[in-house]
Amino acid sequence: MNIEIKNVYALIDGEIKRHSIYIEKDTITGVDNIPEGFKAEKTIDGTDRLVIPGLINAHTHSYMAPLRNIADDMPFMDWLLKGVNPVEDRMTGEDAYWGAMLAMAEMIRCGTTTFNDMQMHIHNTTRAVKESGMRAVISRGLVGDKYDKEDRRIKEAFEEMPDGEGTNGRLTFRLAPHAPYSAGIDYIRGIVDIAKEKGLGIHIHLAESQTEVDNLKKEYGLTAIEYADKAGCFDVPCIAAHCVKVTESDIALMAKKNVSVVTNPASNMKLGNGFAPVPEMIEAGINVCLGTDGAASNNTLNMFHEMSLLTLIHKGTHDTPVCIGAKEALDIATKNGAKALGLKNVGEIKEGYKADLAILDINTPSMVPRNNMLSSLTYSANGSEVDTTIVDGEILMEGRELKTIDLEKVLHEANAMMERLA
Ligand code: NI
Repeated sequence: MNIEIKNVYALIDGEIKRHSIYIEKDTITGVDNIPEGFKAEKTIDGTDRLVIPGLINAHTHSYMAPLRNIADDMPFMDWLLKGVNPVEDRMTGEDAYWGAMLAMAEMIRCGTTTFNDMQMHIHNTTRAVKESGMRAVISRGLVGDKYDKEDRRIKEAFEEMPDGEGTNGRLTFRLAPHAPYSAGIDYIRGIVDIAKEKGLGIHIHLAESQTEVDNLKKEYGLTAIEYADKAGCFDVPCIAAHCVKVTESDIALMAKKNVSVVTNPASNMKLGNGFAPVPEMIEAGINVCLGTDGAASNNTLNMFHEMSLLTLIHKGTHDTPVCIGAKEALDIATKNGAKALGLKNVGEIKEGYKADLAILDINTPSMVPRNNMLSSLTYSANGSEVDTTIVDGEILMEGRELKTIDLEKVLHEANAMMERLA
């Protein structure tokens, strides 16, 4: 559909000014300049509206959305082993489908257009993503010690991997050795070999907790980052979640190997793991992006909440208010995520870029006054301002009404699932 967004405030190159935006099919084909022969099939009036590039949630586990609240205020190992894992193990593929739908309903309502998803049930999630219209990068979380290509999970992740057919490139895949504490070096090497052969990137959790780092040091004499490097993770495009407990030389190594780091401030704080040295990583030249992690450890999938935390915690931990400002946070939550995920022409509002957009209603207290809307976006917006969400030129929400997801059905199924599983 050809869409015209008329005379709207738009976030372009770090500045918010009035523009008109023209979309043909999946692509932004004009900013202020009407493309030749353009005929709008739909016009969105820009009065009281601000359009931003859709937010990119660079690390989550969508199927876990119904596990929100399941094990809060507990020590990490109790959270994982007594709270999350038993319920997760009882989830069927169908449950994962409804979980992903719940996650996507929440994300679309908060202006997120793309997510990087580590999964247990990739076929069911793929089905959900195809139906929802969101852009996603999906990987099967892989856990094991010795690499065996006959392993059921590896077969699922690789040989029986679903495809992105019919999604116009919205859906791509990665391979995900889960973490150094759950995947042996030999096992990860096997997965990296497949990634090389297939031209796929790696998605992994690294250096999330002090226990993880201490155990690796004891057993292998390596930091988590050195462990991943030794296993070959950094020889292919690698996106590493967390990276909280890293040394200066870890940071230098990741910068040298072009590793993208996803910081997950809410999850790290909630599980008592501390703060990733984000300003230091940026200083070293690392591409840092932002994620919510799963709802079991956040408990939201709200990237506005995450942006606010990102800016505030580093000011707080570095004793300076001039650290990760509003503009930088927005870049981290948009174009840095696209770069990390290898998504070309995504994450900015520009001619030739994908039409992945969030349109906010700015006639609301959190966005008033309009003297510095960059600040409003990171420091006072909460996601409820998002009125319209567009992915690949398709309107997924308008007037806060979801167009591709039956919200009532999803809420009913998710509630029923947790009454059964918890
Ligand atoms: Ni995670």
